[in-house]
Amino acid sequence: MSAVQVEGKRFTLHGDSSSYSFYVSEHGDLIHSHFGGASHSDPSPAPVIPDGGWLQGNSTAYGRAQREFPDNGNGDFGLPAVRVRHGAGTTVTRFLYDSHQVVEGKKGLEGLPATFGDGKSATTLLITLKDKVARLTATLSYAVFPAHNAFVRSFKIYNGSDQDVVVEAAASFSVDLGHAAEGRDMLQLSGEWAREAQIITRRVQSGFQGFQSLTGFSSHLHNPFLGLVSPHTTETTGDAYGFSLVYTGSFSASVERNATGIDRVLIGMNPLQLDWTVSPGKSFTSPEAVAVYSDKGLGQMSRHFHRLYRDHLSKSSWTHKDRPVLINNWEATYFDFDEEKIYNIAEKASEIGCSLAVLDDGWFGTKYPRNSDSAGLGDWKVNENKLRGGLDALVQRIGKLKNDRGESIKFGLWVEPEHVNPASELFEAHPEWTLHAGANGQEYPRVQQRNQYILDLSQVAVQDHLIKVIGDILSLTAISYVKWDCNKAMEQLPTPSVGHAYILGLYRVVDTLTTRFPDILWEGCASGGGRFDPGLLQYWPGSWTSDCTDPVDRLHIQTGTSLVYPPSSMSGHVSASPNHQTGRETPLAFRAHVAMLCGSFGLELDPNHFSAQEKKDIPGLIHLSERISPYIIQGDLYRLARPEQTNWPAFLYLKPDGSGVLLAYQIHNKINTSSPAIRLQGLEPGRTYKVDGVEYKEDTLLSAGLRFPWKGDYQSKVVFIDRV
Ligand code: GLA
Repeated sequence: MSAVQVEGKRFTLHGDSSSYSFYVSEHGDLIHSHFGGASHSDPSPAPVIPDGGWLQGNSTAYGRAQREFPDNGNGDFGLPAVRVRHGAGTTVTRFLYDSHQVVEGKKGLEGLPATFGDGKSATTLLITLKDKVARLTATLSYAVFPAHNAFVRSFKIYNGSDQDVVVEAAASFSVDLGHAAEGRDMLQLSGEWAREAQIITRRVQSGFQGFQSLTGFSSHLHNPFLGLVSPHTTETTGDAYGFSLVYTGSFSASVERNATGIDRVLIGMNPLQLDWTVSPGKSFTSPEAVAVYSDKGLGQMSRHFHRLYRDHLSKSSWTHKDRPVLINNWEATYFDFDEEKIYNIAEKASEIGCSLAVLDDGWFGTKYPRNSDSAGLGDWKVNENKLRGGLDALVQRIGKLKNDRGESIKFGLWVEPEHVNPASELFEAHPEWTLHAGANGQEYPRVQQRNQYILDLSQVAVQDHLIKVIGDILSLTAISYVKWDCNKAMEQLPTPSVGHAYILGLYRVVDTLTTRFPDILWEGCASGGGRFDPGLLQYWPGSWTSDCTDPVDRLHIQTGTSLVYPPSSMSGHVSASPNHQTGRETPLAFRAHVAMLCGSFGLELDPNHFSAQEKKDIPGLIHLSERISPYIIQGDLYRLARPEQTNWPAFLYLKPDGSGVLLAYQIHNKINTSSPAIRLQGLEPGRTYKVDGVEYKEDTLLSAGLRFPWKGDYQSKVVFIDRV
């Protein structure tokens, strides 16, 4: 059966174990009829309350329907997915069905990151709606990736009138889920700097509940992901819906329960920062959002996202490859280094098995040397007082080092191109390149964060400048890895829609550079995980997950992040004990085993301060991380026990060949407590597996599980599971 089934004006998109259906009503409205488990015949229609004058109350029949693309006015009093100001200023629209088309595959979106797939992996249904009064056309694009039970939507508004219109709201995905007798819970990933992606759950109540980012970026505060689950959904059972926005700018996500029990889910650009003028004959394209359905709990929802984002979103040549083990000097030196210190760190790191040395913040600025975060940002010229002989000389010198396997040490560099310190040559030359607001010839006081301003990437001149300066560094020096940081939000927008124009500019810059330097391993960073979003995942394989490197906190941050993002896209580093952020002391093995849950493993340590024991243990841990890497990069993640639910979190990664690795932890010692069983998942029925030399039947590992003799705080265990 085709993944898109069309019967007259009834449409169903089929995932392997899910379906999404809607139809055109007799009036031409798109009405949603089902999103959930597989359904191969017409769902019984929601009892329709007849449209007539006898109906009392505020909601009209129109407002009581499950609307597929809720626009504004007409008696639907919920938040609209689209609001366009047109004519003399009205925001009422009525988009009615005009035509449809089914297209093999899934194309990208012009200027925006998007999922992609050929005819074997995806099918697209295009629905054209028209508002004849406003003379607007809305084209809804629905793509289904059946193997991932993923439904992707975006839309385009074409202005066929002879006047400008303004798009004021654009929720990429909107779905009116029918009344669920048992209710629903909403999930979000929220936090702040160094505490990203904490899983927050709440019961959906009547009315509006949601969260948003107004920072100009996806942000630490809330990730652009909304989950919706049945009240008893677990990692392995129950309904789980995930909605994920492929966008890096301000967003808003909400569930609104109306008077009749329908839950309207909206996720898209934040309407408070959308005021997008579309001239006659032009169009506006919304970012896309992905909705995934799982009938087997959150674990399966996450695996759908992981595979989709690895195989059909990320374009990086590194996405499916093992990453080099790196050493980053940030927590070892902060701004206080010279070329000898960096060389020395690289040399010692090569001796213990690292293969990439990363030079973090502080290497640039001549007139305004970057010796703290108060100067130099924007001036991407090496500071030769710090790095005598220049960057290239240092890179070449480090390149002659070999690690214990005889591989030359590669070099990586930190940049933060989108920002500028007022104390910089760039700001002196181009104060007009920063984002700021004013009126009547006066400026509001500019807002600084970390002593910096943000460049206005909506300006093509700024985009071109960044492409040139960063492109020049990468062409002139043998850089194998770039950490692209972003440490400030957009506090002050000249006009609301500059935020979106900035993001489009950012995509142009990042797309140009990553296309020009495809072999470089790019890593996103925004004071840690402040821009861990599917938008940027299109261009690079992953992101620095958090500036918090404390392993206990990291277990929470990484688990939350893994709800949506593949472990291959996360980076984890072993840092010093006591931890610089939390002051917590933890054993080396525990720190390393937590960092190994991520696709990109490294050290954020000064090798000059290693104890004799650390010197002995670190090479083995690095080799272990390399052995584990293929499981993390290619495997499926099973969250066997989550850290916010237990003292004994455990994670299993299963490779496509059926073998696995289990990483298990005891956070605190518990006196007089027996070890809880860790029950595995995802093994092949009937097969035998070898664990630590002992053979077990699959059902034993699933049912009885494994137990480990835990002793002490911050303990961890890594176990390979081989299929016999
Ligand atoms: C941000 C990053 C850190 C580090 C510093 C450098 O905070 O998240 O990893 O690169 O900037 O200033």
